[in-house]
Amino acid sequence: MRMRKRHNLAPRMEACSAFLIEDPAAMRGEWLAAFPEQNRLYVELGCGKGRFTVETAKREPDALILAIEKVPDAMVLAMERARDAGITNVRFMDFDAANLPEIFAPEEIHRLYLNFSDPWPKSRDAKFRLTAPGFLRLYADALPLGGEVWFKTDNGPLFDWSLEQFSAEGWALSQVTNDLHRDGPVGIMTDYEVKFTAEGLKINRLVAARTAETKTTAAGPVPRLRNAALADARGGGAPGPALRLEEESLPLCQAFFKALKQAPELFEKPEDFRPYEYDPARVDAFYAARKARDDRKDYVILLGEDVIGELAIKRIRREKAEGELEICLTCDEVKNRDFGSRAVRLGLERAFGELGLETVLADTLLHNTRSQRVLQKNGFRTTGQDGRFRFFRVTKEQFHRRFSRGEGRADEEG
Ligand SMILES: C[S@@+](CC[C@H](N)C(=O)[O-])C[C@H]1O[C@@H](n2cnc3c(N)ncnc32)[C@H](O)[C@@H]1O
Repeated sequence: MRMRKRHNLAPRMEACSAFLIEDPAAMRGEWLAAFPEQNRLYVELGCGKGRFTVETAKREPDALILAIEKVPDAMVLAMERARDAGITNVRFMDFDAANLPEIFAPEEIHRLYLNFSDPWPKSRDAKFRLTAPGFLRLYADALPLGGEVWFKTDNGPLFDWSLEQFSAEGWALSQVTNDLHRDGPVGIMTDYEVKFTAEGLKINRLVAARTAETKTTAAGPVPRLRNAALADARGGGAPGPALRLEEESLPLCQAFFKALKQAPELFEKPEDFRPYEYDPARVDAFYAARKARDDRKDYVILLGEDVIGELAIKRIRREKAEGELEICLTCDEVKNRDFGSRAVRLGLERAFGELGLETVLADTLLHNTRSQRVLQKNGFRTTGQDGRFRFFRVTKEQFHRRFSRGEGRADEEG
């Protein structure tokens, strides 16, 4: 779905903030406890403008409906619809479905809706389809035995492919149809469904139930670790080496670039991706040029004695007490392990502490949802996006409020 950028996104979000869950990870395992009037949890992935979400919430007042959407420009319309409908059993999250385990405990969801999910037609993008095996295993973790995924799409190839994935992953299929509305409208229609049905397109639907044979993430591969320090950090419940920031020196800058393996997701166009090759002369010159500036502060991120990334507070505008945060981890092995989030927290402590800033900005490429999550976990809020970037901002007060709930201090102060 291509959405027009909404310039007034922030005030509109604010106006219906009662429906927004800003920190869904804090609710993990507690969703129904927080909504005592509801007795079951339904989750919709990719709610878009929310027609289905709001109508389902109206029709099922005993269910808590959680709508997940990674494009806030669409989600704000859904939130406004919920507010205007006067319902109380629905909440929205600006979140990527790929991170589902962060916000739902095992077996916490009773039913999961996938409505007109993006088809990702190129086979190299198949892993992004919300019915890809990697996603199905996340759903299996979060549903109890017998818990169901309800899937609808107008896209025939996606539907056929999804049927194969559900079967191969051990789900029990029922209510499979290639023409849901053949004998008249069935169930609640989504925004896309209303449009496609009016155009005469047929709607495919299936229900998939989790069985004892359904594969969960326990069947998935365990990523390989780079070195001993990382192995310690993961291993056996024992506390790993501390993560800390250290002001960048030439040897630390060199160590960062020696460990750097560029990832395709850091490039706007995948075809621009080239593996990084260490060039001592260029790195030394780069370091000298950075050091000559007085509007930035550079740190490396250390895990034990390993340099695993760098973090900068750059474009510091002292008159506005404002700067921009940038972070780069060296390689895939250190991603998805919470190191990025913890390092950003340490960086913000420096920015709001020793650097005396009041506001920190950041941006990410639109498709880099992993970095977006890292920022959101640290209190950053979306302020908008253009065709290439998504923009974020956090104030000192927002940051301190987020971490004032006794969650423990960041590593280097602990
Ligand atoms: C084609 S639209 C369908 C919207 C709505 N379900 C409907 O039927 O009208 C797909 C929606 O899913 C959202 N989406 C796609 N992948 C997602 C993901 N991984 N996490 C959260 N939302 C996602 C997109 O941003 C988009 O709004």
